[in-house]
Amino acid sequence: MAARCRAAAAVLIISIHLCITTFAVILRTTNKSPWANEFESIELSCLIESISTNNPRIEWKKIKNGEPSYVYFEKHISRDLENRAYIKEPATLVITNLTRSDTAQYRCEVTAHMDHKTFDEVLIDLVVRVKPVVPRCSVPKAVPVGQPAELRCTEDEAFPRPQYQWFHNQEEMAQDPKSNPKFSNSSYTINRETGTLLFTGLRKEDSGQYHCMAENDAGYAECTPQTLEVYDVNVVGIVLGMLALAGVVMVIMVGICCACKNGYFVRSREAGSNYKAPDSRDGLDYIKPEDEGGFRHKSSFVI
Ligand SMILES: *[C@@H]1O[C@H](CO)[C@@H](O)[C@H](O)[C@H]1NC(C)=O
Ligand SMILES: *[C@@H]1O[C@H](CO)[C@@H](O)[C@H](O)[C@H]1NC(C)=O
Repeated sequence: MAARCRAAAAVLIISIHLCITTFAVILRTTNKSPWANEFESIELSCLIESISTNNPRIEWKKIKNGEPSYVYFEKHISRDLENRAYIKEPATLVITNLTRSDTAQYRCEVTAHMDHKTFDEVLIDLVVRVKPVVPRCSVPKAVPVGQPAELRCTEDEAFPRPQYQWFHNQEEMAQDPKSNPKFSNSSYTINRETGTLLFTGLRKEDSGQYHCMAENDAGYAECTPQTLEVYDVNVVGIVLGMLALAGVVMVIMVGICCACKNGYFVRSREAGSNYKAPDSRDGLDYIKPEDEGGFRHKSSFVI
């Protein structure tokens, strides 16, 4: 009697257990963090491990910046993905011709009313990688020897953000100049994240062609090489230049002196007093009316 009771109880427990495991919707994905390059396709897999309901409700939501929005609802693809996404049985979402704005979390939700456990979901993190475009490089044209210099490289499109690398005469520059005998006499630092190549003091040997490359997992792009000239500060040249300047100044001064001696300035001063003469006579003329006619004639002549 007790044995039969135990057997019955065991059957009951087993059947309850079966009930729970069988009549439950359970989802699975083959890849929780897929990625693809822009313009490629991707499958966000949502596989149904177990279900008893015949016609479960399947929905996909996109979660970007914490804001969920529908991607697939009532058997329709939302406007954002219309014509470039579809559902592959049973619940996998396929997106074609990816754009960078597709980078987001996607949630597959399945509701099965006839099951004991009626709901399950899987969350997928999609990253759309964007290849770098040609970076903008800025290289100073000419810098005196011993002076510092900053070379810049920037790229704005790539995702994930690119790493930058600099080349001198087509040769990749060592991250740490001391680590490579070719660059061991140079004093520079490269910031791979910002793209800045900073020289603390240029040597003649640092002259040449510089270009930069931006690279991420999706690809790379380079700017065209630009020439940096490191020139000697020419002491002889500066002295000669100063002598030439002094010579020019002397010639001008000699010229002025000669002009003085030859009375050029004196003559012009006389001309000035001639011009002023009518003014000084003006008062006199009114005191001596008999001269008025003569003065008027002169005055109009001068003016
Ligand atoms: C893919 O999308 C881009 C815009 O994001 C569009 O210019 C291009 O024509 C599309 N390609 C295909 C094959 O649909
Ligand atoms: C670096 O400088 C040292 C000493 O001036 C010189 O012997 C060596 O050849 C230089 N190396 C390069 C790569 O220019």
